[in-house]
Amino acid sequence: MKNLQSTTTLNNNVEMPLLGLGVFQVEEGQELIDAVKTAILHGYRSIDTAAIYANEVGVGQGIREAIETTGIAREDLFITSKVWNSDLGYESTIAAYEESLSKLGLDYLDLYLIHWPVAGKYKEAWRALETLYKEGRVKAIGVSNFQTHHLEDLMKDAEIKPMINQVESHPRLTQKELKRFCKEHNIQVEAWAPLMQGQLLDNEALQEIANKYGKFIAQIILRWHLQSGVITIPKSTKAHRIVENADVFDFELTKEDVEHIDSLNENHRVGPDPDSFDF
Ligand SMILES: NC(=O)c1ccc[n+]([C@@H]2O[C@H](COP(=O)([O-])OP(=O)(O)OC[C@H]3O[C@@H](n4cnc5c(N)ncnc54)[C@H](OP(=O)(O)O)[C@@H]3O)[C@@H](O)[C@H]2O)c1
Repeated sequence: MKNLQSTTTLNNNVEMPLLGLGVFQVEEGQELIDAVKTAILHGYRSIDTAAIYANEVGVGQGIREAIETTGIAREDLFITSKVWNSDLGYESTIAAYEESLSKLGLDYLDLYLIHWPVAGKYKEAWRALETLYKEGRVKAIGVSNFQTHHLEDLMKDAEIKPMINQVESHPRLTQKELKRFCKEHNIQVEAWAPLMQGQLLDNEALQEIANKYGKFIAQIILRWHLQSGVITIPKSTKAHRIVENADVFDFELTKEDVEHIDSLNENHRVGPDPDSFDF
């Protein structure tokens, strides 16, 4: 865990960067292209998008411009997208993958995820992801918003175990049980809304810890994720925050501070509950 290019090894031996850029709620356009480009120029190697974000064209453009400017290879980047609920099914998921690739202007993804565990639909979609993986068309496959029982159900019939489970997690939703289950099964946890969508950045307890290390609250939270073995993908379109969020590799939280942050858990979600979502 040395720098922005540090990786963790997934259960299929693929290396995935510990920190990446999220682009949820960023519309197509120059701001998006600039954010992706700024991040890569600054040393980010991982970008997280999804079909439903309707911004894969701009993400692809930002990637191409960054490659042109820096000369880094496509293989050095780690690009994630997700199949949306309405496309869950065998043929429809494969078609959705093709469409994401075409919008991004890429010939493969590093990681493709099932976005939400829609009952009765995710197993067929998983078969499609397994096919894509076995054909060598995607480097790693995984799920998102899966609770323990969803993972157990999926794995009953799966040929290939998910490499990733991307779930909401932050100091108010530490996901202790889910993290334990994933660790036991060698499924890497990745946090979305790692900063609780900006809602924790005036928290007093976190401010006290931040003062101690001479860091910003966002950096303390991101470091806590990393030290907890969790991949994080904070979203920002502001260049100074893209830089700030990556400046988390030059300090270490004490065990006590990690535990203090763990204790802020309230099982509080900012996003939908995977057991009761209706979309
Ligand atoms: N799988 C899923 O279902 C799912 C769901 C939601 C999100 N995601 C993924 O996870 C990524 C991250 O989650 P998120 O975007 O929901 O929330 P987040 O990363 O926790 O928070 C983003 C918010 O925090 C602000 N921010 C970022 N860095 C900051 C800093 N250093 N100081 C102050 N404010 C800061 C951003 O504003 P500015 O842009 O103005 O800086 C934005 O409003 C998404 O972008 C997406 O890729 C996945």
